[in-house]
Amino acid sequence: MDQSQVILRAFENEDIRELHRWLNDPVSIAMVGRAPMTYEQTVKHVEKKRNNGDLVLAIENEEHKLIGWIFLQNIEYEHGRASIGILLSPEGRGQGYGLPAMQQMVEIGFNQLRLNKIYLTTRAINEQAVGLYKKIGFIIEGQLRKHAFSDGQYYDTYFMGLLASEWNVKCL
Ligand SMILES: CC(C)(COP(=O)(O)OP(=O)(O)OC[C@H]1O[C@@H](n2cnc3c(N)ncnc32)[C@H](O)[C@@H]1OP(=O)(O)O)[C@@H](O)C(=O)NCCC(=O)NCCS
Repeated sequence: MDQSQVILRAFENEDIRELHRWLNDPVSIAMVGRAPMTYEQTVKHVEKKRNNGDLVLAIENEEHKLIGWIFLQNIEYEHGRASIGILLSPEGRGQGYGLPAMQQMVEIGFNQLRLNKIYLTTRAINEQAVGLYKKIGFIIEGQLRKHAFSDGQYYDTYFMGLLASEWNVKCL
């Protein structure tokens, strides 16, 4: 099968209603470990990211349907690093859209923003996310033991990183 294709574009205020639905999906609550959010909290969440200077983009599939968002946050140019986050709609998951979306954002981070390192944290139990990140080339740099708490349990967190030199070598 051909690789799924996505389009990244600016995340608009009209997209917040959908984002609110995705954030409150039980799987994303369990995997991201965030409490359910009201629509107003979601609006504030987006405003905060914009005020922080995060690069926030919407993900559309081949039919221009909005299927997720992706962002570079904690952008620190003096260190040449930023962290990356992604959330797909419940309907958009498991179809190979995460891979091209992450690849495009990593490409922007390294070859347009000139970052040296992109990193992320994820729950170790999130096999789908860890599998995707490994496929892109992220390496587990550390396992933070019992680092997150939700639903009466502590969960391990992986710290994963990818260097520009690793990415650009891979793309030659
Ligand atoms: C995590 C997420 C971004 C993954 O994107 P996706 O497009 O749904 O990913 P896919 O299911 O297409 O899988 C991508 C790759 O990961 C790997 N993978 C998927 N499920 C896996 C599993 N259960 N175990 C190991 N690897 C797995 C595979 O290599 C797969 O590629 P392949 O099918 O071509 O071999 C998306 O499912 C999502 O938004 N989930 C909810 C929110 C979330 O968990 N966000 C991340 C928080 S850190």
